[in-house]
Amino acid sequence: MNFTINPIKRLEGNVPLPGDKSLSHRALIFGALAQGGETKISNLLQGADVLSTKNCLASMGVQFEDKGNDLLVKGLGASNFKVPGGALNCGNSGTTIRLLMGPLSALSFSTTLIGDESLSKRPMSRVSDPLAQMGAQITLTDGNFAPINIKGAPLKGINYQLPKASAQVKTALLLAGLFADGATTLTGKIQSRDHTERLLPAFGVNVDTTDSHISIMGGQKLSSAGSIHIPGDISSASFWMAAACIHKGSWMEFDNISLNPTRVGFLKVLERMGAKVDYQIEVEKPEPIGSLRIEYAPLAGVTISKEEIPSLIDEIPILAVLATYAEGETKITGAKELRFKESDRIEAVASNLKSMGAKVETYEDGLCIKGPQALRGAKIETFHDHRIAMAFSIAALGAKGSTEIIDSQTVDISYPSFFETLKKYSIT
Ligand code: S3P
Repeated sequence: MNFTINPIKRLEGNVPLPGDKSLSHRALIFGALAQGGETKISNLLQGADVLSTKNCLASMGVQFEDKGNDLLVKGLGASNFKVPGGALNCGNSGTTIRLLMGPLSALSFSTTLIGDESLSKRPMSRVSDPLAQMGAQITLTDGNFAPINIKGAPLKGINYQLPKASAQVKTALLLAGLFADGATTLTGKIQSRDHTERLLPAFGVNVDTTDSHISIMGGQKLSSAGSIHIPGDISSASFWMAAACIHKGSWMEFDNISLNPTRVGFLKVLERMGAKVDYQIEVEKPEPIGSLRIEYAPLAGVTISKEEIPSLIDEIPILAVLATYAEGETKITGAKELRFKESDRIEAVASNLKSMGAKVETYEDGLCIKGPQALRGAKIETFHDHRIAMAFSIAALGAKGSTEIIDSQTVDISYPSFFETLKKYSIT
């Protein structure tokens, strides 16, 4: 399916956001690992990735019940998981496959994890290598890819220095650590999104976290968290924030938005670029949630440091689009991880910006864009990557002529109502 986008004058409104994707996966998995008891999840993301997690858990006997807008997860506990009838299909979802590798390593039976074409090209040894040190018996295809076969085995705690800031790897190891003998301690690049560390205590698990390590003691039982509210996804909001900064006279507001400090890198960068943004935290625990308002202001180019990459990794495609509208140079380095996302996002951004008439310099680990550059409508190749589809839909709103987003339904991964929302809040 293709979607055509024409330029607009501006956008305005208070936009309800879909639930945070990272938190939605975690709430489902932790709720399922709880030993009995129900966890009520409100504002769970209804995206395809989260559905993949739910379906994998359901294949192992976990039960769910829809309660109006809420979802009840019936805690089963890993030791009661059932042998699935076939391979667990993780679809396009890196978070599903990588997070599940942790607890599946400790089961009393074997499982196979599969994914779509894109997921099958993404590296998995970053998770299986440290899990193997814990005793996990994992076989990857060609040493690094899905399909993944996991033969459940007894695990032991390890000390592991994370070589990359990856919340997916961190979470897989912490979840495996819960079923291991002794403590599992992570050091090194632990400063990725910290939803796991914040949410596990709501399920009765003690996680020892400092600036330099995260430690979890094996043998702790998860209990139901009662109710979990999922805030709106700041990564989904970033598209509207960028759109507001492109069109004179725009304003956008969000209530119930996640303002977790490990996720607000894009906001900090927008502020440095000169954006008019105002936000406040209203709830602190377990996750900082608040409200945010952004108004149009002309932006200047910005340099992104290597250290800030983990806090805005998913926002780089839209940031690159925004750079073409800003005055001066925007330089992003230290972001090689972008090459291993749902698509090679450095190439996907560069090739689509070029189709829209912009000049972009690429590096192995980033991009450089000199703005402002007038964009013209083009055919956008999404590479089946939801964030590329959404970033270039926003680029199209200020381009000359119409733009066609190829395979536009890929937005269903994290934001099924993206195009409806776009129409509703645009003023033409
Ligand atoms: C996620 C972690 C990030 C992010 C992804 C979701 C998570 O990936 O890009 O969209 O929920 O843990 P990495 O852990 O590979 O950095």
